[in-house]
Amino acid sequence: MAGPETLLGLDIGTTKVAAVIGRRGPRVRLLGAASVPCSGLKRGIVVDVPETTKAIREAVTKAQRTAGVELEAAWVGVTGQHISSLNSRGHVQLPRSNRQVSWPDVERVMAAAVNAVSIPPDRQMIHAISRGFTVDDEPRVRNPVGLSASRLAVETHVITASRNLVENVTKCVDQAGIGVAELVAEPLATADAVLTEDEGELGVLLIDVGGGTTDLALFLEGSIALTGAVPAAGNNITHDLAVALGVTHPAAEQIKLAHGCARAALVPAEEMISLPDEDEERSISRRFVAEVIEARVQETFRLVAQEMSRLGDRWPPPGGAVLTGGGSLLPSIAPVARDILGCRTRLGRPRLGAGRVELLDSPSLATGVGLVYYAQREAESRRAEPRHGLRVVPILGRVIAWVRELFST
Ligand SMILES: Nc1ncnc2c1ncn2[C@@H]1O[C@H](COP(=O)(O)OP(=O)(O)OP(=O)(O)O)[C@@H](O)[C@H]1O
Ligand SMILES: [Mg+2]
Repeated sequence: MAGPETLLGLDIGTTKVAAVIGRRGPRVRLLGAASVPCSGLKRGIVVDVPETTKAIREAVTKAQRTAGVELEAAWVGVTGQHISSLNSRGHVQLPRSNRQVSWPDVERVMAAAVNAVSIPPDRQMIHAISRGFTVDDEPRVRNPVGLSASRLAVETHVITASRNLVENVTKCVDQAGIGVAELVAEPLATADAVLTEDEGELGVLLIDVGGGTTDLALFLEGSIALTGAVPAAGNNITHDLAVALGVTHPAAEQIKLAHGCARAALVPAEEMISLPDEDEERSISRRFVAEVIEARVQETFRLVAQEMSRLGDRWPPPGGAVLTGGGSLLPSIAPVARDILGCRTRLGRPRLGAGRVELLDSPSLATGVGLVYYAQREAESRRAEPRHGLRVVPILGRVIAWVRELFST
């Protein structure tokens, strides 16, 4: 199968559905995008199917109008705390008669690595990514096909998602009248849009500060080493403000967007702001607003640091941390992250290549853009290796093997 010519990335987030459309080619070209508010998800879980379906339909229709193309299927992001990942190892002996590594050998060794992990019945594997092959005693081989060897081993990163989550997301996309081409773990897609290959090689932590969750993807030595999420993000900040100021959530969100700052010390003590939507004029100190925000931002990055503490002395990676997602637009968030994580921190917007779609120049669209890049690579690899369920999709220049067709149940 050659795969579709137009690629649709669908990011079903906690606060919005983003649809991004690109055209496949030697280099993907971004053609259109739309983002529609959606409250059908809570922390990455679908809680309202009709609302989510409606938002998907609306976002896709709008994006299609700007792109002026027909669509076949979507690459759909799966995220939230219901993604989990672990690393596993597999090895096989090569037959004496033929000691040149072939695609079926790669499939066998990937299968061995996946079978070595026990996936509970309520979870489903969505990716098995090779982190590097060992060919006889030679480690860190990216693609072993064609090499002569008697023994082949692989390190994989296996990403699983809750079966219910996958089914509900698929249901919403189906009901919106769109086919699902693939489900993609969102941190992988976002990494594709935001990180440089160099950062991947050095080692880097990608932090996507969304509405419901802060998603993490750690790359070490050019391959994915950890994916995960912490349950604190933009919506928690808004909620804290609503409680602290005694205002509604929409008013708190408005205050955050207009006056928010993650470093209270940078806000002059005498600066006052007036509260929106109040019957009587009421003003409050902007520094107080920043203090509320700073506390939650600090807590969020402490949770991230706690996740990273499992890495021991491999933390922090030389490439530091890259912040993206809508929450990364909060002024001064990067220095607060830097202080808590103890590494250099930059803000990441999606790379747009030849595309000139204005809306896309926002960290909130990084996942949608990344899904299109992922789709492009995946579609190209299908063309290169049409007979195998296992495909080679480069992420940050490294090979990843996709084995859904082999192992999906
Ligand atoms: N300028 C800004 N300042 C502060 N926060 C902002 C700004 N712009 C957007 N946000 C926050 O970013 C969050 C939404 O980010 P994003 O669009 O990445 O989330 P999402 O993808 O819908 O959610 P998730 O990834 O958790 O499922 C909201 O909490 C919003 O308030
Ligand atoms: Mg998101």
